Amino acid sequence: MRTIRITGSALPGRIVTNKELEQMVETSDEWIRERTGIGERHVSVGETVVTLASEAARKALEQAGKRAEEIDLILVATCSPEQYLPCCACQVQAAVGAVNALAFDVNAACSGFLFALDTAKRYLDGKRYQKALVIGAEILSKIMDWEDRSTCVLFGDGAGAAVLSVCEGEEGIRSMVQGSDGARGMVLRCDNRPVNNPFQKNETGHSYVSMNGQEVYKFAVRTVPDAIEKAVEEAGFSMDEIDLFLLHQANYRIIEAVAKRLHQPMEKFPTNLQEYGNISAASIPILLDNVNNHGRIKQGNKIILAGFGAGLTWGATVLVW
Ligand code: UT7
Repeated sequence: MRTIRITGSALPGRIVTNKELEQMVETSDEWIRERTGIGERHVSVGETVVTLASEAARKALEQAGKRAEEIDLILVATCSPEQYLPCCACQVQAAVGAVNALAFDVNAACSGFLFALDTAKRYLDGKRYQKALVIGAEILSKIMDWEDRSTCVLFGDGAGAAVLSVCEGEEGIRSMVQGSDGARGMVLRCDNRPVNNPFQKNETGHSYVSMNGQEVYKFAVRTVPDAIEKAVEEAGFSMDEIDLFLLHQANYRIIEAVAKRLHQPMEKFPTNLQEYGNISAASIPILLDNVNNHGRIKQGNKIILAGFGAGLTWGATVLVW
């Protein structure tokens, strides 16, 4: 079995409140809270995906009393790297001194941490790798149009890390369900450099995140409960046996709708989007670290990690702590 016992997270120091955003775009604290649940978010004032990912990784390693040399795999899930090359995971490897690790990035937007976790699990299943650092890290503030109220109020920056290692017994990842629907992908997009070379001129600049919020909302409230139901069934548990549902933190109303569809009380769905907003691939590992550090997870607890995002992509996993 492969399990997570150790986590860490890191956030930029600058907090931007809804009230501050009222000064920048035509919005209100009331609208943002009512429609999303978000009250504030952390925004980079110089931190990068790599510096935050490295800080989260160091905290996880310190907590575990592990040396970076013991890590043999590093995966960074991100959709907002500062550089094309080298990948973030290799830069994190250098920053933390994990000299024995294989390192690469995974991009599945907000589902990225779950996809990276599954990838790491499969490496560990192959027996050659023993300990993986799986990280979700984003600086979304640099791909936001800060004049577009329909997106800039929703997102934040941060990183979360988890150490996945081999364990005995019943603990660990018990099931994993994932999916993608590329045909509907353009409802949430951010374009990069277009083809521009001596043979094909293109002067268009880089664009920012754009989203059909209602389409993403409908997709989320339908897909996430289905994925959770399948993951719980595959793990051989009943829904009522699940102790905690750690969902991607995009919108409180989406989380409520999922809880309702699964006939589960909101007390089982901890949230942090009030303080952090939506941090894409970092949202699930940061939430996991928050509940772990608050002593909310007991040994043997059955936990769901589930998310959805651009791609479109989605995933759900059952983890026994
Ligand atoms: O990680 C995945 C990322 N994405 C998501 O999870 C997004 C899922 N979707 C959502 O969370 C919601 O659809 C939103 C929060 C994005 C929007 O909420 P909504 O209840 O679907 O609002 P809406 O798009 O239907 O807009 C309602 C009104 C519109 O005005 P009119 O046309 O009714 O006059 C918008 O222009 O609210 C307006 N609006 C705003 N007003 C104040 C949109 N953004 C804002 C804003 N402040 N920030």
